[in-house]
Amino acid sequence: TKPKAAYRIGFSQCTGADLWRQTMLNDMKRALALHPEYTLLYKDAGNSTARQLRQIEQLAAEGIDLLIVSPNESAPITKAVDAVFKKGTPVIVLDRRITSTSYNTFISGDNVEIGRLAGRFVGSLLKGQGTVVEVTGLAGSSPAQERRQGFREQLARTPGVRVIRELDGQWERDTARHLAEREKQVLQQADVVFAHNEVMALGVQQVCKKYGLDRQIRFVGIDGLPGPVGGMQLVLDGILTATFLYPTGGEEAIEAAARILNGKAVPRETILKSFQIDASNVQALKAQSDRLYTQQRDIERQTRRIQQLTETYSSQRNRLYITLFS
Ligand code: FRU
Repeated sequence: TKPKAAYRIGFSQCTGADLWRQTMLNDMKRALALHPEYTLLYKDAGNSTARQLRQIEQLAAEGIDLLIVSPNESAPITKAVDAVFKKGTPVIVLDRRITSTSYNTFISGDNVEIGRLAGRFVGSLLKGQGTVVEVTGLAGSSPAQERRQGFREQLARTPGVRVIRELDGQWERDTARHLAEREKQVLQQADVVFAHNEVMALGVQQVCKKYGLDRQIRFVGIDGLPGPVGGMQLVLDGILTATFLYPTGGEEAIEAAARILNGKAVPRETILKSFQIDASNVQALKAQSDRLYTQQRDIERQTRRIQQLTETYSSQRNRLYITLFS
C-alpha cells in the first residue's frame, strides 16, 4: 500500500491551563491516535491575544499543512488567521469565532442555545420570580457574547427574573473570585449566580461560602466537565444546581482536518449538541465519562511505556553495535 502522507497540523490554543482545554487536547489526541502520520504542533497563548497573534505567525513560518485555531478574542485574532488562509493553508476555527470567513470549517457548541437553556432553567428554578448575578466570560470572545445574548433573550420571557449585576469574570476563577469579594453586597441580594463557565461559578461559590451565603444562592455553570474536579462532580456534590455540556470539538476538529487533508468536503459549520446536566442525570453521565477518563489515562500510560521501551531498545542496540564493531 501507498504510505500515507505525513502532515503537520498547527494548533493555536488561546490557553492550555484549564480543564476544559486539557479535555479538548485529550479529545484531539484520541482522534490523532488513528493518524500516526500527523504531527501536531501545539502553541499555548496563555490567555494573551498578542502572544497568540505571534504564535499563529510562527506556526505559519515553521510550515504547516493546516491550522486549527481557538481564538482568545474573536476580532483581534482575525487578521492573523486571514493571512494564513489567504496563503492557501486550510483553517479550522474551533469554539471561539473569528470575525471573517477565512476558514474551511467552524466547529463549536451552540452558545446562544446554551444561554437560552440556562435562562429557561433559571426561570423555572425561580418559578418566574427572583434575582440573578451573571458572571460573564471574556467580553471579546464569541461564546461570552452569545451565551449572554441567549440567556437575556430567554429571561425576557420571564420578566419577574432580573439580572441585578453583571460581573466580568473573563473565564477565570480567580478573576470571578476577586469580583465576588468586591460585590458581596450584591450577592446578598441574589437568588442565582449564573456563570458562563464552571470555574467562575466555583470561584464565586467559594466566596459566598466564606460569607455564609452559599445556602441561599443556587449556582449554575457551563461546560459539564469530567473528572474529580470537573463540573459534573460539582453537580454531584450539590455545589452547582445545574450545568450545561459544552463539547470541546477536539475529536471533530481532527476528523475535519483529516477530511480536508484528504481533499474531501467539510461543512462550513459543525454545531455540536449541548444538554442540561442536573441531579436527575448527573450520576449516569459521570459514570460514563469516568470510564472514558480512565481509558484515556491507560492509553497515555501505555504510550509512555512504549516510548520508554523503544528508547531502551535503541540505546541497547547502539551499545551492542559499539561492542561488536569497536
Ligand atoms: C476554557 C473556557 C471554557 C468555556 C470556553 C469558551 O478556556 O473558558 O470554560 O466554555 O473557554 O470559549
